[in-house]
Amino acid sequence: MRSVRKAAVCLFLAVERVLTAQIPLSPDYPEESLDFYSHFERDPRQWDLDEPHAVNATGNLVFETANSLLQHWANTRLRIGHTIVPGIVPVGTILYHGAITGPHIPTALDWVAMEPEHSMVFCRGSVETGCWHATFAVTRPMKVLYFDGNSAAKIPEGTMDTQDLRIQDLCKWGLQNGINGLVRMEVNFEIMICNFTSHMEVVSFSNLDSPRLAIDNITDQPEYSNTAHHTFEIMHSTSWRENYPGETRIILDYSALISFYDTDLVPSLVPRRVGLERWDHRVAGISPEDIERVEDRLAQVLERPPVTASAAWT
Ligand SMILES: *[C@@H]1O[C@H](CO)[C@@H](O)[C@H](O)[C@H]1NC(C)=O
Ligand SMILES: *[C@@H]1O[C@H](CO)[C@@H](O)[C@H](O)[C@H]1NC(C)=O
Ligand SMILES: *[C@@H]1O[C@H](CO)[C@@H](O)[C@H](O)[C@H]1NC(C)=O
Repeated sequence: MRSVRKAAVCLFLAVERVLTAQIPLSPDYPEESLDFYSHFERDPRQWDLDEPHAVNATGNLVFETANSLLQHWANTRLRIGHTIVPGIVPVGTILYHGAITGPHIPTALDWVAMEPEHSMVFCRGSVETGCWHATFAVTRPMKVLYFDGNSAAKIPEGTMDTQDLRIQDLCKWGLQNGINGLVRMEVNFEIMICNFTSHMEVVSFSNLDSPRLAIDNITDQPEYSNTAHHTFEIMHSTSWRENYPGETRIILDYSALISFYDTDLVPSLVPRRVGLERWDHRVAGISPEDIERVEDRLAQVLERPPVTASAAWT
């Protein structure tokens, strides 16, 4: 990771130098302009972009994941997350919850969706009673932790590895560290909220016509089922976050990004990745020492005041 950072700084300096010196990017470099490149291990005239990167190198993976955070497609394709990033959900953000258990607003750990099309799927009730759907507004900047990948998909292939490290304790530990939400991605982005009353207020709690989805039994009441309609709506809402800039209502602190591809922080995963394609990389199998190091790093970055851009540059 240190060498990655060093390379990034060098690259930035090189670009800045090239821009300020107005040197054209052609293969015919004036000899004196090449002195600058003596910082690099290799002369740029000898870069071969077709050459595969070094075995075990992960710098490319760190950059690629950082470049695709909170974007739905990249995290569906490469669904086993390797990144944890703190962030903020700003005041005024509207969040949604469909109640499975009747007219009860959650008080303890439960989820909210970023889109009502997503939460409506969980608005359950009989045709007679209808179902209950809550809308919340964030009233204080809410600190969250984002787990990348398809991190809420309940499948056995490792999408929950980074949370499985200590899932039961995650909220307890989070609340002690000022974290009130865990951002994950299922069919769309959602936030597991640790305390529903500390950072949000109820805007509405509506008794709606039950969407009558055939989730548990697709042969059930086909004549009343709105399943196809809702499936389309949820896929459509997901498509808004498919690519860059992704889910912009969660503002990440990139300076606090923790990557399981950081080979200084998590050396135990290096041998486990040998010979595997990127989508087969797992975090399961990490050593207890490395887990401890990741937790220490997380505690360290959470102690600092968050560094988030004051303007949306996208
Ligand atoms: C949740 O937040 C409220 C308001 O800040 C607080 O009174 C309550 O004790 C919190 N509950 C837990 C379990 O921390
Ligand atoms: C599914 O619904 C159909 C039609 O209502 C019913 O005949 C069948 O027994 C149900 N199956 C299950 C597993 O509930
Ligand atoms: C890659 O990592 C494996 C496992 O740690 C190691 O045995 C191998 O020598 C490494 N290869 C290179 C080229 O560094």
